[in-house]
Amino acid sequence: MLERIQQTANFLKEKMHTQPETAIILGTGLGNLAEEITEKYEIAYKDIPNFPISTVEGHSGKLIFGKLGGKDIMAMQGRFHYYEGYSMQEVTFPVRVMRELGIKTLFVSNASGGTNPAFHIGDLMIITDHINFFPEHPLRGKNIPYGPRFPDMSKAYDPELIRKADAIAAAMGISVQHGVYIGTQGPTFETPAEYHMFRVMGADAVGMSTVPEVIVANHCGIRVFGMSVITDLGLEGQVVEVSHEEVQKAADEAQPKMTAIMRELIKQA
Ligand code: HPA
Repeated sequence: MLERIQQTANFLKEKMHTQPETAIILGTGLGNLAEEITEKYEIAYKDIPNFPISTVEGHSGKLIFGKLGGKDIMAMQGRFHYYEGYSMQEVTFPVRVMRELGIKTLFVSNASGGTNPAFHIGDLMIITDHINFFPEHPLRGKNIPYGPRFPDMSKAYDPELIRKADAIAAAMGISVQHGVYIGTQGPTFETPAEYHMFRVMGADAVGMSTVPEVIVANHCGIRVFGMSVITDLGLEGQVVEVSHEEVQKAADEAQPKMTAIMRELIKQA
């Protein structure tokens, strides 16, 4: 495993003309941020040794290197979801490669269903903590010596970055929610009983990504900031049909706000 990670990192290092310490996983709500990256050079996942290949339609699947907010960055356009059939090792492989490349801070975004009754469709939620509800743990198996066998998770989402994001959002007049994200395997959206269960468990929002990458980033000593767009609501007695299209539409509408906060935070981080 370690050998494969290093092989991929060495391949990328030969192609890279910058040394970014900031990485972004361009999840739902952040897609347009890719267009703001300057001095770009891109490498398709299919051309990177050992990289999984993105199966979701419309996700081109590439690494983008360049500048954003005056900083050297690397961005993942297209992520690997567990529901697509990838193993946890595959889902989190790029994060381990980031560690080898010298990344210190990771920014992530996603779409999620709100279980907190105070939330509205289109809200942005700064992720303050998560619950791992995936059926398999990404660190299961022989420990890779990027971090301890039993990693601490008391500050999985960097408190300093959360403070900065709050200040940025306030200065921009953008209201943000805070909350706990529960990561579940999907690909079904939740039944009313499942939304209720997640609420009772302490989640404010539920989605199908992020948690594996954040766990591995923490193991690797990479600090994390994450934001979620609330694209639908799973509130007791009010659960209605959800479709991928509705999720996409709500995310597109919230995108400018999320992008504005992330752009500025990346600059200041
Ligand atoms: N549940 C799970 N994943 C999601 C949801 C949801 O309601 N909305 C967007 N991603």
